[in-house]
Amino acid sequence: MIAIDLSGKAALVTGAARGIGRAIALRLAEAGADVAIADLDLSGAAEFGEQLSAASVEEEIRDLGRRATSFAGDLGISVNCDAFLAKSAVALGRIDILVNCAGGAIVPHDSGWGSAASDTDIEKIFAANYGSMAYCCRAAVPYMRQSKGGAIVNIASTAGYESQARGALAHYGAFKAAVINYARSLAAEVGHDGIRVNTVAPGIVMTARIAALAAARGIGTPDQAEATPLRRLGQADDIAKAVLFFASDLSGFVTGQCLAVNGGAPSLAC
Ligand SMILES: NC(=O)c1ccc[n+]([C@@H]2O[C@H](COP(=O)([O-])OP(=O)(O)OC[C@H]3O[C@@H](n4cnc5c(N)ncnc54)[C@H](O)[C@@H]3O)[C@@H](O)[C@H]2O)c1
Repeated sequence: MIAIDLSGKAALVTGAARGIGRAIALRLAEAGADVAIADLDLSGAAEFGEQLSAASVEEEIRDLGRRATSFAGDLGISVNCDAFLAKSAVALGRIDILVNCAGGAIVPHDSGWGSAASDTDIEKIFAANYGSMAYCCRAAVPYMRQSKGGAIVNIASTAGYESQARGALAHYGAFKAAVINYARSLAAEVGHDGIRVNTVAPGIVMTARIAALAAARGIGTPDQAEATPLRRLGQADDIAKAVLFFASDLSGFVTGQCLAVNGGAPSLAC
């Protein structure tokens, strides 16, 4: 039987205080990895009522029998990414897996239009979704070279290859497209170091945050679930399981790829 065993590996997950990032951190820990997490707000789960099984995500990882460390900071600023990687390497002794999950369509819905978004909002979306990913990847590569290999998994979005209703979230979609494209280039650059780089593009995932915003934004409706081939919306753990595949040897001959995890809706460009 093939089992995913990440014992002895050190995994880093950004945006892991809640939602998809937290689900990924817990799945990696369950598979045996020691885990470092980073977030703007390490206690952010409370904002939308997401229930933890311990006092913090770091404690949840320890409860699974793994070593854990955490870093609080804005990863849209490159020195914070360098500091997160350095702190994690000291605490866990090595870096084998990096999952870049920090981000989201974090500006007010009406601030996302391609024709009207402010400089500040465009920069904020860039920093959270593309900057944090690129800065953490750049910082991770030297550590992975020391470990003679590694796996990087970046979380994009189906918005990275298709437009949204009436053109909403224009810059979010554009920067997620850049996340998908960046992985292809980095994979080609670092493949000979044994480092694989892949992307997961979630469709709608009913995290506590999305559930709270659903009514106002018209997302996560029964119609949307029914329009999906698998007739349901995503859960954070659906994304975590796809990340486990890319983080483990099961995908040992896969790099530079993007996998849509969206219940089966056609993906033309992923
Ligand atoms: N939920 C969905 O439907 C969905 C769909 C497609 C893609 N995604 C992507 O999945 C990822 C996780 O989304 P989620 O729904 O779990 O959101 P979430 O808001 O629940 O979690 C995102 C986490 O990232 C952190 N974060 C944001 N900007 C940051 C920054 N600059 N520095 C450090 N941390 C930062 C937040 O504090 C938060 O804890 C995001 O990249 C998002 O774009 C989500």
